Amino acid sequence: KKLTIGLIPADGIGREVIPAAQQVLEALPTELDKPRFNFIHLDAGFEYFQKHGTALPEKTLEILKNECDGALFGAVSSPSHKVAGYSSPIVALRKHLDLYANVRPVKSVISDKDINQKPIDILIIRENTECLATGLKIAWADRKISEYASKRCGKMAFEMALGRNGIRQNIPMNQRIWKSKPKVTIVHKSNVLSITDGLWRESVRSVKENNHKYDEVDMEEQLVDSMPQAFDVVVAPNLYGDIISDGAAALVGSLGVVPSANVGDTFVVGEPVHGSAPDIAGQNKANPIAAIRSAGLLLEHIGYHKQALSIYNAVDNVMREGNVLTPDLGGSSTTQQVTQAILKSL
Ligand code: NAI
Ligand code: MG
Repeated sequence: KKLTIGLIPADGIGREVIPAAQQVLEALPTELDKPRFNFIHLDAGFEYFQKHGTALPEKTLEILKNECDGALFGAVSSPSHKVAGYSSPIVALRKHLDLYANVRPVKSVISDKDINQKPIDILIIRENTECLATGLKIAWADRKISEYASKRCGKMAFEMALGRNGIRQNIPMNQRIWKSKPKVTIVHKSNVLSITDGLWRESVRSVKENNHKYDEVDMEEQLVDSMPQAFDVVVAPNLYGDIISDGAAALVGSLGVVPSANVGDTFVVGEPVHGSAPDIAGQNKANPIAAIRSAGLLLEHIGYHKQALSIYNAVDNVMREGNVLTPDLGGSSTTQQVTQAILKSL
């Protein structure tokens, strides 16, 4: 089968890690019935905005909608002050393509050289379409939480809890990732934001309460500011989801290893969780692992499970051996050296 993938490196280290992910997709072994890839390079980003006056050209959106089966996005350098006419292209993409859930697996790979690290394996599902929107002239932010968006994001979390724990595939209990019953933890702060977070909480709860399919999944709640570590699937409103996944990244060593997929009902965009990292851009030391794992997530969500697994395993091998790592993980290898090591493992 032919798969057309849009590649949108955008800014900073996006331009270094997206080519690495492309190399890995191209190198997938043929015995895995690998799809034939057709890559289309697409423009977007803050630098593009500075030259052309738009951060997301119409053409990029049209090609994604009409020609692509999925896409990989690098990172965008969003200025922290308001710039007239600029708005974030990834936020626009999520909106235009209705990518309503951001799926963020945060998993540690314990290096053979580091036996003291605690194993982490959390799947964070972040609502991707609403939450805080800032006004232009006054320091005030409106927060939008709707029953509709909360429920469909909640449903995604329960579905992924079933899938990830092998229940849907009838995998025996002792071979599952989580040996106990799968669990979805709803993150909120409805003790303070009782109207908005209250609606979020009620809506997500109702997904399980109204569907017996999810009887096999436990449901728990957790206030966002007191997150413990033992989690299976975590489902959170947009802003909390962003913050807790950046925090969780610290538990697994670096933001440079945490991937995500923006998932809707008809399209998927893989995207590393990190930003454009201007402090290390252009120095060939960006960790390509988050982008490479994001390519795996992209494949997983469009139905290529075997291929995705082979990418995850190749990355895990390189991390476990611990010989070829970028500086963020304490190594001294370059983006290209890490990519080559992953290709070799693949
Ligand atoms: P950042 O994620 O770009 O960098 C944070 C720190 O992590 C930096 O020290 C950086 O060097 C390091 N880091 C990030 N990715 C890495 C990788 N792959 N390998 C090694 N080290 C890595 O976040 P920051 O500095 O807050 O933001 C920089 C720019 O990126 C800003 O303009 C921000 O708006 C944008 N950004 C864009 C995002 C997106 O495109 N979705 C997400 C987050 C930030
Ligand atoms: Mg973030």
